[in-house]
Amino acid sequence: MLSTLLRIVLAGQLKPFCLSSKEKPHFDTSIESFGLYVHIPFCRQICPFCPYNKCLHREDKVNLYCRALSLELRRYREIFSGARVNSVYFGGGTPTTITPNLVQLIDEIRSLFKMGNQIGVEAHPNDLNPDSLRLLRHAGVNMLSVGVQTFNSELLRIIGRPYDGIMAKGAVRKAFDAGFDTVDVDLIFALPGQNVEDVINDVATAFELGAHQVSTYPLIIFPYTGMDIYIKRLGLKKTGMAAEKGMLEAIVYLAEKHGYRRTSIWTFTREGAPRYSSVTRERFVGIGAGSASFNSGYFYLNTFDVEQYIESVGKGLPVSLGMKLPVRVEMLYWLYWRMYDMEIPVSRFEELFQESIRQRFGLLLQLLRLSGMATRNGDSIRLTKKGAYLFHLVEKGHSWDYLCRVWAGSLKETWPSQISF
Ligand SMILES: C[S@@+](CC[C@H](N)C(=O)[O-])C[C@H]1O[C@@H](n2cnc3c(N)ncnc32)[C@H](O)[C@@H]1O
Ligand code: SF4
Repeated sequence: MLSTLLRIVLAGQLKPFCLSSKEKPHFDTSIESFGLYVHIPFCRQICPFCPYNKCLHREDKVNLYCRALSLELRRYREIFSGARVNSVYFGGGTPTTITPNLVQLIDEIRSLFKMGNQIGVEAHPNDLNPDSLRLLRHAGVNMLSVGVQTFNSELLRIIGRPYDGIMAKGAVRKAFDAGFDTVDVDLIFALPGQNVEDVINDVATAFELGAHQVSTYPLIIFPYTGMDIYIKRLGLKKTGMAAEKGMLEAIVYLAEKHGYRRTSIWTFTREGAPRYSSVTRERFVGIGAGSASFNSGYFYLNTFDVEQYIESVGKGLPVSLGMKLPVRVEMLYWLYWRMYDMEIPVSRFEELFQESIRQRFGLLLQLLRLSGMATRNGDSIRLTKKGAYLFHLVEKGHSWDYLCRVWAGSLKETWPSQISF
């Protein structure tokens, strides 16, 4: 509903956006750099709340999958032969279920591309031990995101995570000891049965443990996961909007008190620590089942089906759906992720699009300022707390409208002909 309104008002588009199998990717082969996302779908367990493209870890599948990743990587090397890979991000699923394979993949990326020094990995607390951490560090991984979700043992049990609060703290400490530049702790708030004190305890624990960064995501209940039914079966209630707002306010207050800067609507980074993010790159190439890519104004998705991904990458790029963004939408897409980051660098917009942001979006920016949603700060326009809360709602709405349709559709059909959203 909110997304529809924004689409009509901001993008001036009455018809829904449409990802189509007919839109074949076309590349600007002259690009100098991009961020690389590598999707690892394997998990040791399937969590009831999880919307991502994942499957149970199976040794025989892992080897075939990694070979397919390597082949896809080579296809991109042919397309973008001179380009530099600025950053690499392994997301999932659970990349740390296949740590030795990650090391091989990193070596391979280095041998194929010029490479920047940012390598991030999403980790499950149960996979972190001194050996696996040493392997990751030696391979050059400098950012680790630990999927703690909550330190509260009872809540961990409720959401089906196979560890308790003490084990979660132990995993975070081990990650610090291994010497990464950034250790991020992922938490989910507004869990069923959680109250504001529980949230404060979780966030305070992450800060007190010394996390370089804490990401606090509101629980988003995606209908296709069955989480709704799961909550009802446990006799619990979903957290209401007012309670969720109170929790977010408590997190923001606590972050300020501990000297953490809000670097996205849901991320808090310790002063001086490098920021860790997977979703806000200006240009990225995704490899692996269900990964997304965005470059040259073109957005496209790989097939989500792991077997089909492995099979089809032998014949060409395993792209299932794509969409060419009109220039205004491309600009809005860029603005969207800058607002997610809380900050719009004005001169960067002008560099990228050769146009004044004031001419294009003057009215929108003025409205944001006059309503107290944003303030001008030198070259940047920064969201205020009020603006960040509005964007929290927009981002949740976007997850519902976009991810529910596109991900649920792609999980249902291997090669959908089109998905509108
Ligand atoms: C791919 S998962 C993380 C890595 C690893 N698989 C794990 O579970 O520890 C990325 C993060 O998304 C967040 N997340 C997952 N499902 C969510 C949901 N339904 N609502 C909000 N955040 C969610 C969690 O904080 C999770 O750590
Ligand atoms: S939350 Fe993590 S471990 Fe759980 S199913 Fe999703 S990706 Fe796998």
